[in-house]
Amino acid sequence: MSYTQTTEEEKQARLFYEENGYWISPVVFNAEEVEALRKAHDRIWNHDFDGDAYPLTEWFPDPNKPDRLRKIDNGWWINDEMYNAVTSRKLGKLAANLMNTSEVRLWYDQAIYKPGTGKGETSVGNVGWHQDWVYWQCTNTSNLVTAWVALQDTDLSNGCMQVIPGSHKWGLLNSDGFFNTELEAVRKQMEVEEKPWREEPLILKAGQVSFHHALTIHGSRQNFSNDPRLSIVAHYIPHGTAYKRVQNVDNIRLLGPRPKEGDLFDNQYFPLAYSASEE
Ligand SMILES: [Fe+2]
Repeated sequence: MSYTQTTEEEKQARLFYEENGYWISPVVFNAEEVEALRKAHDRIWNHDFDGDAYPLTEWFPDPNKPDRLRKIDNGWWINDEMYNAVTSRKLGKLAANLMNTSEVRLWYDQAIYKPGTGKGETSVGNVGWHQDWVYWQCTNTSNLVTAWVALQDTDLSNGCMQVIPGSHKWGLLNSDGFFNTELEAVRKQMEVEEKPWREEPLILKAGQVSFHHALTIHGSRQNFSNDPRLSIVAHYIPHGTAYKRVQNVDNIRLLGPRPKEGDLFDNQYFPLAYSASEE
């Protein structure tokens, strides 16, 4: 079943996304919801978890180096506010429109904390240029979308995400750059001859969401403010996404024991965020 667009706005959003590889939504989360998610961040970094589990992975470096990026994967396992946000129908429906699909499941999520560093020049909190699908080649499609939720007004002054518009049409490039903080070096690995490298900052109000395609090159630079830049990130898969056998892809851990080629990612570990049949 294909997704049927219902409004002119949805059609325009999808056309923009298909052309540019990203799209910025109106405000999705109101001030109260943003505040609740900011509190969720505090609890996560203090290891105050809901229930008995742990996140899938945690990248929370040496406490003696507080200017480094912090990240967890699958906050929905351990925080109720995150669970509600990343499986919310309002995010799922926007993702469904962009992926042109009838059903959206959560692939996994992240909470990301980019510390404020003040004015001094440093690259330690940067996120290197990368394409998300580098990490997700065990899916039988690259039609995945990432939703990046701003939990404060976010622009270049506090290290907003930047995308290279149109780069989702360049194919999968040979770079694994997320943790490489030297963006110019990564750019040299990823540039494609005769394709324009234009860096577009994704400027968001608190509660707005940017969406990008799994092949869109993106990264971020320094947070020059004195406050952390907080976000939650939800990665979504369209209906019919199945396991494809590849070597050395980290996310195979999400599949559990002994996955077989063609197995659908349609179980409780990939919760439903949207189904057109519930309209
Ligand atoms: Fe990414």
